[in-house]
Amino acid sequence: MNHQCVVIVGSQWGDEGKGKIVDVLAERVDIVARYQGGANAGHTVHVGDEEFVLHQIPSGILHPERRCLLGNGVVLDPFQFFEELDALTARGLDAEPRVGVSGRAHLLLPYHKILDRAAEERRGAGKIGTTGRGIGPAYEDKVARQGIRVADLRDLVGAEERLRAAAARVNERLIGQGSSERVDADRLVSDVLAIRERLYGLSTETGRVIHDALREGKRVLLEGAQGALLDVDHGTYPFVTSSNTTSGGAALGVGIGPTAIDAVVGVVKAYTTRVGAGPLPTEFPSPMQEHMRELGGEYGATTGRPRRCGWFDAVVVRYAARVNGLTGLAVTKLDVLDTLEELQIATGYRVGGEILDEFPGDLGLLEEAEPVYETLPGWQTSTADARRWDDLPAAAQAYLRRLEELTGAPIWFVSVGTRRDQIIHVEV
Ligand code: GDP
Ligand code: IMO
Ligand code: MG
Repeated sequence: MNHQCVVIVGSQWGDEGKGKIVDVLAERVDIVARYQGGANAGHTVHVGDEEFVLHQIPSGILHPERRCLLGNGVVLDPFQFFEELDALTARGLDAEPRVGVSGRAHLLLPYHKILDRAAEERRGAGKIGTTGRGIGPAYEDKVARQGIRVADLRDLVGAEERLRAAAARVNERLIGQGSSERVDADRLVSDVLAIRERLYGLSTETGRVIHDALREGKRVLLEGAQGALLDVDHGTYPFVTSSNTTSGGAALGVGIGPTAIDAVVGVVKAYTTRVGAGPLPTEFPSPMQEHMRELGGEYGATTGRPRRCGWFDAVVVRYAARVNGLTGLAVTKLDVLDTLEELQIATGYRVGGEILDEFPGDLGLLEEAEPVYETLPGWQTSTADARRWDDLPAAAQAYLRRLEELTGAPIWFVSVGTRRDQIIHVEV
């Protein structure tokens, strides 16, 4: 892949293996930047026998010398962030000098988590199944123009005033909701002021850093969190996260123009998973559900919740290819399908006697949708040692070629295991 500024974007419902793909591609770049989301993300990277799960720090951090940035579009939980940074340092990585945070990024503070929990409780049976990391309330504050940004930490007095005002506002809201939880303003102030200098010291103009790097001919990866179907505009609203996860959010979320981006790689699993509530048209019935969950180790990297599994849904990925402008696909976890006799791919949805070939924005239609399947033979051989396209069994090649045809996006990478070397570079 010879591009200079590449977006890596989840193209299903998250957990597609973005961390692994970013780690592999980070080999060839200078900067890796996250552009949205927060510690709701859980990006798993395996280096040798070691496993790292990154929530806020870009997945490029495991390569020495890569600069890792958190853009303005991110909501930053400073306590979790430093815990993650310290854990990386304790594992022998020289992480802190390589990390930069946009001064425009909004802080996600403990009261956002209280509000997230309270909102989920109020939703009752209609709950979204959020990660409980405070994401929705932090973006609410940002859009309501009452958030606190990293740059606001420069001025000690001003920062304290903002924190006290936020605590009072949140407490009023909690009282109004009949909640017995309260924000302790003194504790909030002392906790935030304790990390103020350290965090402010890492702040930088991410857009400028990336702009200058690109002008010098350096390479940049923009790492998405979550996936297209969790995008607040394009996903299965209201069962979505609160940010624009799709590639349009990438330029916006780091502070560069969209014309600076020259490739968009959509990461997809060779099947489908989702964690949390909301529609999943190709969801397996039992016992296939449990079987695939065990084969794929499908438990959430952030919350440990079991992921819901289903067949590859080409309607979803075709839609994701369009809204993201995907130039290539990275198909992960092909090896998880190795033992299956037959595979199915959803090619369309049947709704009230009609076939939909477009992913509907209307959740009511989606709930009625019956996937139309095409069946392909399995390969029943291990693909874990494949390193070139030609190493793949013919049935696996046919399966992948069919995914390309149905989604309209060419496959650039195929991942056949968690390790760095378990990757096939398909594109020339
Ligand atoms: P992300 O959020 O998109 O980065 O994905 P997660 O890390 O939440 O979930 C993907 C899981 O699949 C992780 O446990 C990865 O280690 C694992 N994984 C990634 N690629 C492959 C692959 O090709 N084969 C297998 N078996 N596991 C993979
Ligand atoms: P990565 O980056 C999978 C899901 C939650 C819930 C919905 C809203 O690892 O792919 P939120 O806490 O964001 O308000 O939750 O979004 N969700 C994810 N699902 N992978 C993720 O991140 C997710 N981040 C949020 O389960 O359904
Ligand atoms: Mg994940």
